Amino acid sequence: MSVRELYVKGARVWIPDPDQVWRCAELTKDYKNNIVAVVYDDAQTEDLVVKNDEELPPLRNPDILIGENDLTSLSYLHEPAVLYNLQVRFCNQNAIYTYCGIVLVAINPYDEMPIYGPDTISAYRGHSMGDLDPHIFAVAEEAFTQMERENKDQSIIVSGESGAGKTVSAKYAMRYFATISGSDSETQIEKKILASNPIMEAIGNAKTTRNDNSSRFGKYIELDFTPSYSIMGANMRTYLLEKSRVVFQAPDERNYHIFYQLCSAAEQGKLPHLKLRKPMRFHYLNQGLQEGPMVASKPRKGHQDNFHYLKQGSSPHIDGVDDAEDFIETCKAFSLLGINEGMQEQIFRILAGILHLGNVVLEEGNGDSSAISTGDKSLKTVSELLGIDLEDIRKWLCNRKIVSGREVFTKPMTLTEAVFSRDALSKHIYAKLFDWIVTQINKCFAAKAKPYRFIGVLDI
Ligand SMILES: Nc1ncnc2c1ncn2[C@@H]1O[C@H](COP(=O)(O)OP(=O)(O)O)[C@@H](O)[C@H]1O
Ligand SMILES: [Mg+2]
Repeated sequence: MSVRELYVKGARVWIPDPDQVWRCAELTKDYKNNIVAVVYDDAQTEDLVVKNDEELPPLRNPDILIGENDLTSLSYLHEPAVLYNLQVRFCNQNAIYTYCGIVLVAINPYDEMPIYGPDTISAYRGHSMGDLDPHIFAVAEEAFTQMERENKDQSIIVSGESGAGKTVSAKYAMRYFATISGSDSETQIEKKILASNPIMEAIGNAKTTRNDNSSRFGKYIELDFTPSYSIMGANMRTYLLEKSRVVFQAPDERNYHIFYQLCSAAEQGKLPHLKLRKPMRFHYLNQGLQEGPMVASKPRKGHQDNFHYLKQGSSPHIDGVDDAEDFIETCKAFSLLGINEGMQEQIFRILAGILHLGNVVLEEGNGDSSAISTGDKSLKTVSELLGIDLEDIRKWLCNRKIVSGREVFTKPMTLTEAVFSRDALSKHIYAKLFDWIVTQINKCFAAKAKPYRFIGVLDI
């Protein structure tokens, strides 16, 4: 149909609005001479001037289509049509999921929904995508049956902005596969895959202003299947861990959860050798890290306040989260994944070493050099926890080695350079530890024989 036939008196349109984003309106006369005359729902009228047909306001869908569970069934598919349909489904029908062809659109309800239990899983088992209400389980089921029927590997890609619900959706997809495809009980691979979540969240998630449990890395998990389509193993790849968070957090944000878990455990008297209880002796002035008065008069909120790397966001607690309890969960998950108590002990030493490294007080030396402050109490702990010779670390935090041809010489670093390289070292150690933990988890996940097919889930 031509524009002249569509934009006639009574045609229903969407008009952009600075407050409501889009506003409903109806044409009061046929579109002519570049004028669209409209009346809004509240009876207000307006004559809109358009330069050409491209600028005409988008048309509204007939009411009968509103609330459809697949956006592709709408007559008009543009931004206001998508938003309005999702809004009606979410607000009036309590439906967080909508299809757009084979794509599933999810709205984060920020509330527990009773739609993820074992009964719902069985309900979706064996049904094609169009049979039941849109659901992440339907997408997972589709991937599984496609793998069976077409005998092809599958992948599910979860994308969206921070806090949209990607990680939660990816977890539900994994839970679906783990539930429907039994594996031989000895390896308990599904249990292990689900147990990797608390670990990866402890070391790779943090509170941001948009999401209390924001993943600061991308994750791709491949589930391996046997020829009879039971899970036989898995493999995880991670991408782009946000390293800067280890040494810096914006206001109201936190460092990685694991650090606060350690501090909370220490508050309960655990892990005394990590010296997380040490009282604060220095306060920090910008990058200068100068020695300051004792801050003993200030009431301490918790051990995390002892560490420069943990308190820059001034947001040590998350509502509804008990870091000490989560620490116990993390340890249990480590054990389930073959990272025994001895290895856990080593991991915690390294993490505590990073925290103490962040408290090392550097000051200006003679000329363009820097030095460890005489009042510093942290360096010795760093050396003990990380097993590095004290004099070596003292030297190499403030100097660098330069190789020029056959000559090797030592060049002192300025205070700014030394602070920067101390933080770079902390980030590097953390990233290496993160990768090491992923490698250990993958060892535990690994299939004993060559996998037959896989389903990949990407949460990035
Ligand atoms: N399907 C859901 N049901 C209930 N709450 C959800 C759902 N999806 C997300 N949430 C809530 O939103 C928070 C952020 O979701 P998350 O998956 O971590 O976001 P993203 O990974 O996209 O940054 C979760 O911690 C959870 O509280
Ligand atoms: Mg996430």
